[in-house]
Amino acid sequence: MDMLAKRLLEWYAENKRELPWRGTTDPYLIWISEIILQQTRVAQGYEYFLRFVRRFPDVASLAEAPEDEVMKYWQGLGYYSRARNLHAAAKSMKGKFPVSYEEVRALKGVGDYTAAAICSFAYNMPYAAVDGNVYRVLSRYFGIDVPIDSTEGKKVFAALAQEALDKKRPADYNQAIMDFGAIQCTPQSPDCLFCPLAESCSALSKGIVARLPVKQHK
Ligand code: ADE
Repeated sequence: MDMLAKRLLEWYAENKRELPWRGTTDPYLIWISEIILQQTRVAQGYEYFLRFVRRFPDVASLAEAPEDEVMKYWQGLGYYSRARNLHAAAKSMKGKFPVSYEEVRALKGVGDYTAAAICSFAYNMPYAAVDGNVYRVLSRYFGIDVPIDSTEGKKVFAALAQEALDKKRPADYNQAIMDFGAIQCTPQSPDCLFCPLAESCSALSKGIVARLPVKQHK
């Protein structure tokens, strides 16, 4: 395992956030949490998640529910196509959550990030989940100024993320780098002074932390 993964996992052991979808490997619960968190912050998504899964605790209960009731539980979260997609996807599952990456990725409303998050957290499959936090951490650590929203950037970071992933502990690693970006390597005021990656961070050594990641469109 390389140094980055090792340090991230050590940091995570000390700093992990206790979140309601982390105490489970149930793919259904993880799916619901990841769809909520696509466009909603953890602080707001938390209560919605708990209410939603109390009412719809599994694939069957969601599939059988009337659409307007599903929408009622989404009221206030916005981006309502997420709820409609959830409902449609639940109905398509025939009572059982899919078990392969390809089937999970094919669900309505599930993209590369969400499929990797579900398959790593639920099944411990070795897929790197690349969200905004991960782009930021990797761009700084490796000092990469290719725009993250360019075709080239997406390719570069997807490959780099997959390489950096701890293949033995993909679930922990994906959660670790996500939390590290959310808590330590933040957009505006990263805590470089007390960062466990400081000695090998390319951006820090070049003094360009605040300029990364680069975005094409402002
Ligand atoms: N944002 C999206 N998915 C998350 C997760 N599993 N934990 C924390 N923040 C997240």
